[in-house]
Amino acid sequence: MSGRHNFIIAIDGFSSCGKSTLAKALAKKLKFAFIDSGAMYRAVTLYFIRHEIALDDQEAIENALKDIHIDFIPNAIKTEIHLNDEDISEEIRQMYISDKVSDVSAIKAVRLAMVAQQQKLGSRRNIIMDGRDIGTTVFPDADLKIFMTADPKVRAARRYLELTEKGEDVTLEEVVENLSTRDRIDSTRAESPLRQAEDAIVLDNSNLTPEQQLHFVEEEYLKAKAAKAQS
Ligand code: DC
Repeated sequence: MSGRHNFIIAIDGFSSCGKSTLAKALAKKLKFAFIDSGAMYRAVTLYFIRHEIALDDQEAIENALKDIHIDFIPNAIKTEIHLNDEDISEEIRQMYISDKVSDVSAIKAVRLAMVAQQQKLGSRRNIIMDGRDIGTTVFPDADLKIFMTADPKVRAARRYLELTEKGEDVTLEEVVENLSTRDRIDSTRAESPLRQAEDAIVLDNSNLTPEQQLHFVEEEYLKAKAAKAQS
């Protein structure tokens, strides 16, 4: 294990596998900070859309990245995500962002900037970070790595429910299409594609309740904590 004193939990997996839901619940239980790395790529996507940054304009992208400041601000109920001091937590969950975010997050300069910020966020505190490349690229020395997966039909149904409950006008077919496109782009891109770290523990939650998932990762946390204490 590493010489770090803080404890890092990496949770990776496909879109809409319930990574954030589990990570949030675990962070609350363990009193760890929770960082949703996907929200950072969504924030960059929102900025690029608003400023009409062309995804092949390297110079515009580099300049935009210098102007993008992302903060996680905890309040009594949840952690807000701010882009240049504006709370964009709700805006970045909309479909027009989901439709573009995989293309934006495949850009090398975007990944370099986000990974550097993510590593800084995890340099001192005990944290749980969820994403696609946390256990492979951001924190290859994470103390516990979980790789989440679930049946694509279950994932699409969950995501559809989440969006329609918020009043978004989408069809199940659109959600299925978005998820499969994102899976494909996220797993085949050149820059740190989504893949399971060799030392990650797989959690298939197709048929598990949130409580069962929490119990599973808590057990794994206790084992990893004991291993870290001995190293
Ligand atoms: O977890 P999410 O669906 O909010 O993530 C949005 C997109 O961001 C996802 O399609 C891929 C990208 N992403 C990434 O490339 N690397 C991460 N660590 C997290 C997300």
